[in-house]
Amino acid sequence: MLHAPILAPSLLAGDHAALAESVASVEALGLEWLHVDIMDGHFVPNLTFGPQTVAALRPRSKLFFDTHLMLDEPHRYVEPFAHAGANQITIHIEPSYDHAGTLREIRRLGCRCGIVLNPPTPAESIEHLLDQVDIVLVMTVQPGFGGQSFQEPMLDKIAQIDRWRQERNLSFRLEVDGGVDLETGLHCRKAGADTFVAGTAFFNAPDRALFAKTVGGW
Ligand code: DX5
Ligand code: ZN
Repeated sequence: MLHAPILAPSLLAGDHAALAESVASVEALGLEWLHVDIMDGHFVPNLTFGPQTVAALRPRSKLFFDTHLMLDEPHRYVEPFAHAGANQITIHIEPSYDHAGTLREIRRLGCRCGIVLNPPTPAESIEHLLDQVDIVLVMTVQPGFGGQSFQEPMLDKIAQIDRWRQERNLSFRLEVDGGVDLETGLHCRKAGADTFVAGTAFFNAPDRALFAKTVGGW
């Protein structure tokens, strides 16, 4: 395996009336990443946080903010999120805009960059960008809401992207998001994933420390 596993709890499943406490509870477990879902009500039928939320949380935490933009026009928002304190910004392949240029802009702003693809979107759609990203995020549910069931057929897509990574000697991370728990996540690990977003399964786990330790041992 190329990369050690990373667990990125999704703030979407945290307590929205006490976000800073949810963030602190992740940090207290010794975890390093936090997944922050940004939705615009257009690309996905839901709304979440804006740059102001990220900026307010930034001084409260040293966590690596893995910022997932589910937006029709992500290129318009990478700068505000970078300035707000995002460490990594991932953008979807599905809407029409300058994907390569936006990835370059994210790096210019000092963040790591990544490309995301939805379940119906074929792996081939991002193939040309693989040498330009720090991470590829494979959605394992249709984005918009937490608590959905993992889509098993995505395992082949993960394996395909991992094969390309090896064949081309690339070192991007391979992340999965949606319905990830200790069972589905392990299947993803075996298929080549190394970065695991978990919302519901993590925040509802009877023992979050055990959840984190288990993923860390994969
Ligand atoms: C879904 C978001 C996910 C979400 C995952 O649109 O991108 O990050 O928080 O939630 P769970 O782990 O509950 O599927
Ligand atoms: Zn996400």
